[in-house]
Amino acid sequence: MNTNIINRILQNTRHPKGFWGRMIIYGMNRFHTPLARRGMDMIEWQPGWNVLDVGCGGGANLKRLMKLCPDGKIYGIDASEECVSFSKKHNLRELDMRCFVCLGDVCSLPYPDETFDAVTAFETVYFWTPLDVAFSEIFRVLSPKGYFLISVEACDPGKGRIWTERISGMTIHSPESLEESLRKAGFVNIRKNVKDNEAHIVAWKQ
Ligand SMILES: C[S@@+](CC[C@H](N)C(=O)[O-])C[C@H]1O[C@@H](n2cnc3c(N)ncnc32)[C@H](O)[C@@H]1O
Repeated sequence: MNTNIINRILQNTRHPKGFWGRMIIYGMNRFHTPLARRGMDMIEWQPGWNVLDVGCGGGANLKRLMKLCPDGKIYGIDASEECVSFSKKHNLRELDMRCFVCLGDVCSLPYPDETFDAVTAFETVYFWTPLDVAFSEIFRVLSPKGYFLISVEACDPGKGRIWTERISGMTIHSPESLEESLRKAGFVNIRKNVKDNEAHIVAWKQ
């Protein structure tokens, strides 16, 4: 396959759409599993928590969160219609009972203040602009003592150039720059688990 076509397909990681979008979503649901599990291991989940997964993609993490919080409600939001529809199908049994999925942008979340006990973001902060607005929105919808988990497979801007040169609108943030932005948004007690190019960050709202 020629490079132009590959690059066009890769844009679907930022905004899945159409046939190739669905292929990418299917792959993300499978191949992001180990990363999501390692990230989720950083939090002591409580059965009754209400959780929001931002940039929920194909909804595999919504299903995992429902297992971790069996008495809570799990919400997913994504800027891509293809992802919203995929996530709904993937969680059909619990849909609109314990699992709620909607279309939307992280920079203007359609939820009241202090709604969630935890917010998660797997492989998606690369695409959030402006990042400070996104983090302030997450801070707003979190309850006091709520957690925000970020997991990324790429946190080295240098090594990540192979992706940022191909995927428009993608920025790879270092763990330090993410931490600084989180502090500016008001988060405290920031814990980082960084190994090679992968990072998991948990930030707390006091
Ligand atoms: C690489 S995918 C990751 C999907 C999923 N979290 C996973 O780990 O499989 C990035 C996702 O973030 C979503 N996204 C990108 N920008 C967004 C924004 N501003 N607000 C909400 N979702 C966004 C994309 O539509 C896409 O589903």
